[in-house]
Parts: sequence; C-alpha cells; structure tokens
Amino acid sequence: MSTQIRWLGHAAMSLQTAGFEILIDPFFTGNPKAAIATDDARADFILISHGHGDHVGDSVAIAKRTGATIIANYEIACWLEGQGVKRVHGQQHGGGFNHPFGRVKLTLAFHGSALPDGSNGGNPCGFLIYTKDGKKIYHAADTGLFGDMRLIGEEGIDLAVLPIGDNYTMGPDDALRAVKMIEPKKVIPIHYDTFPIIAQDAQAWAARVRAETKTEAIVLQPGESTPL
Ligand code: NI
Ligand code: MN
Repeated sequence: MSTQIRWLGHAAMSLQTAGFEILIDPFFTGNPKAAIATDDARADFILISHGHGDHVGDSVAIAKRTGATIIANYEIACWLEGQGVKRVHGQQHGGGFNHPFGRVKLTLAFHGSALPDGSNGGNPCGFLIYTKDGKKIYHAADTGLFGDMRLIGEEGIDLAVLPIGDNYTMGPDDALRAVKMIEPKKVIPIHYDTFPIIAQDAQAWAARVRAETKTEAIVLQPGESTPL
C-alpha cells in the first residue's frame, strides 16, 4: 500500500507506510482539535520533535499500551526511559538511522524543548522521513524560518509539513517563504487554530502558495488523510 499521512490536530500526524503506523507528536489529551482519543491511538513507532507538552503529549501512555518505539533526541529518549517507556531510540541533529519503516534524520528547528517537568529536553528538531516507497517527507515541527531550509529542499521533498500558527512558530508569511526555499511537491499546514492565539486562515494561506509557487497546498481537517 502506498504511504498515507493523516492530520490528527495541532502538530499530531500519523503516517502509514510499509505496513507500519508512525505517530508524530501525539497530543490528544487537552487538545481541543484532537481527531482521536488517546486510548484509540495505534502506533508501531512514535516520533517526538521536542519536549513541550503539546508535542510529547500522550506519547508515554501510548507507548506503554502499544509497545511502540519512541524516536526522539537523545535527551528526550533518556527522559522517556525514566518515565518507564521500554523502547526508545535517541538520535541527534543531522544523524539518520534506518528504522524498519524507513530512514529518519533529525533536522534543525529554532524553538525551545524543556520537558513538562522542567527537565532538559535537548534541542528541538524537525524530521526528514525517507519512506520505503521512495517518498521524502519534511516535518518541520515547531520552528521559525531559517535559511538552511534550502539545504533540506535540496533533498527533493515530496511533502513538507509546516507550522503556520505564528506566535510560537512561523506564521503564514514566513511559512510561504519556507515553501519557496524548500520547493516541495506538496505542503500541509499544521500548528494553527488549536487555540485562539494561533488562529489562522489556512485556506487563504493555501491560495497564496498556489498563486506564488508550484507547490500543491493541501489543507486537511483534523482526522483527514491524504496519499503521498
Ligand atoms: Ni513547542
Ligand atoms: Mn507546539
């Protein structure tokens, strides 16, 4: 089956690829836009971009129930072991690893990463995911705009997942500049409308992407999915 990606609200996504279910930043409890309940989440692997509560989310509970392996930076991986998560895999920026579902490389992200209990969550990251069916996904997670997105674009990105909410991350103007640097085939906006402070008009942003770039902008509702 081809790779599918589903938006679960805020920064939470699920990726179905090579017969595996991969959850990214599974924040459901306390997320007014959560598409699923924590108890209904399925996962073989969980990717966590940084230590903030809206990204670590329900990952500990889901990993304990499903036995999923959590992939995160080394500091968060160690913290998760302390929380009783059995299977963790720590990586660090620029480093890639061939997981059973595909390759994951951590990218830069300009943001914070303190964990919910105040522990040091290392540095925040985005993800480059290389699927076994040859797709390249760049999930930027929480970040401001940075010029090295051009380097990420050099990889030939099929899908970019970019925050547009502003205030804590890139807003619509900088996310449009990011699309112009990365030049992905498709882009999905995330990290908006969850709370009033990050309310955005995603359709208006998608119209600007279509008018000013060759990238296909896909606006999903929480719970909707799209094939790559
Ligand atoms: Ni954050
Ligand atoms: Mn966030």
